Amino acid sequence: MTLGSLPFTASTHEIDALHERLRTRAPGVHRAELPDGSPVWVITGYDAVTMLLTDPNVSAAKADSTMGFRGNKLPPALDANLLNLDGEAHRRLRSLAAEAFGPRHHRFHEEIVWTAVTELVADLPAAGRIDLMTGLCEPLPVRVTGTLLGLPQEQLGAFREASAPLFRSDASHEADALRKSMTTLWGLISEAIAGKRREPGQDLLSTWIAARDGQDRLTEDELVSLAFLTIIGGFENTISSTSFVLDELVRHHQARARELLDRPTEFTTLIRQLVGTATPMNYAVRRFPLADIEINGVVIPHGHTVYASLRSAHLDPAGHGRPNLTFGRGRHYCLGAPLAHLQADHAARAVLSKYPHLHVTGPRETYRLRESWMTYALAELTLTT
Ligand code: HEM
Repeated sequence: MTLGSLPFTASTHEIDALHERLRTRAPGVHRAELPDGSPVWVITGYDAVTMLLTDPNVSAAKADSTMGFRGNKLPPALDANLLNLDGEAHRRLRSLAAEAFGPRHHRFHEEIVWTAVTELVADLPAAGRIDLMTGLCEPLPVRVTGTLLGLPQEQLGAFREASAPLFRSDASHEADALRKSMTTLWGLISEAIAGKRREPGQDLLSTWIAARDGQDRLTEDELVSLAFLTIIGGFENTISSTSFVLDELVRHHQARARELLDRPTEFTTLIRQLVGTATPMNYAVRRFPLADIEINGVVIPHGHTVYASLRSAHLDPAGHGRPNLTFGRGRHYCLGAPLAHLQADHAARAVLSKYPHLHVTGPRETYRLRESWMTYALAELTLTT
């Protein structure tokens, strides 16, 4: 029996209940339809999701679809990204990208995050109603990712505006907006790359351009796509995660967190736990089995589209005490996870340090959500002093 588009219900605070129902309804593997009508399989539960994400016989590349899956129909210049590659091309590109996000750069990344957080929190009002979404959560990853990549400062707002619709994938009337935003983003990235070719700097775009032009380690499409994925991964999920962490912190852990402010290691551990419970992505990106596979006794044919519910895995008692799947698992594990942790950590520290006490403005269920079935993400976060 097919569940229709129920698993892809957008913008609901009932998201945990929905994914729990999908997981506990036998056999936990379901036929469904994306909002655009494409037939897909939805798999649930910690073990099944982990198995799928780590199976070398399951590909993330759309080229391995036998059903003509096209998803967001990205142009080739944006589609040569890590989340649409597998096998040798993915290994080559990922090892190049991973250099930039590795522990060697932790101190440098921390400085960028700390500077951005300090500036943004200094500009927040001293008391009253504090709009943390507009004042901190939204601009923070845009500044951090922008600085890392070396994007022109004056265009950061345009990058953010162009990238946001890519996660609002629920409504068909948005297809035009989506196409427009992809074209705009592609143009902005191409311009930024041209600028860095003329005048290289100490940033990721310049490093990747050198790897392309000097060492031939990636194609032009791969270069543009790497910047594209860093931007969309770096912006949206981090906004969602940081806002959720701050809300959760103020709602349930404020007294404890304040006690830990002068015990940085313990403070960081608390924030890491909250980041681990945030899980903005309801699903990993779609996958395509390279041969028929069997999950919970159900055969999923070669090349069919499979969505793995990260949220159901997160809620599954079988996963408790085991590593969370907030950042995925296996060869596509999020490269930006350390950077996301740094942003939540510094944002939480700076906000608690500035305000002696904070209050939420209502139950979380009264907060507006972003329009998206891919993520569970707050659209607003206002606290009061
Ligand atoms: C809390 C914030 C974030 C969350 C929850 C998150 C989540 C994820 C998840 C679940 C995946 C794996 C998707 C899959 O296997 O289908 C992923 C991949 C990725 N993320 Fe993140 N991400 C976050 C922040 C970032 C940041 C800050 C960056 C970069 C600046 C980033 C860059 C990437 C990249 C490049 C990949 C693809 C890796 C690959 O395919 O090899 N992410 N992310």
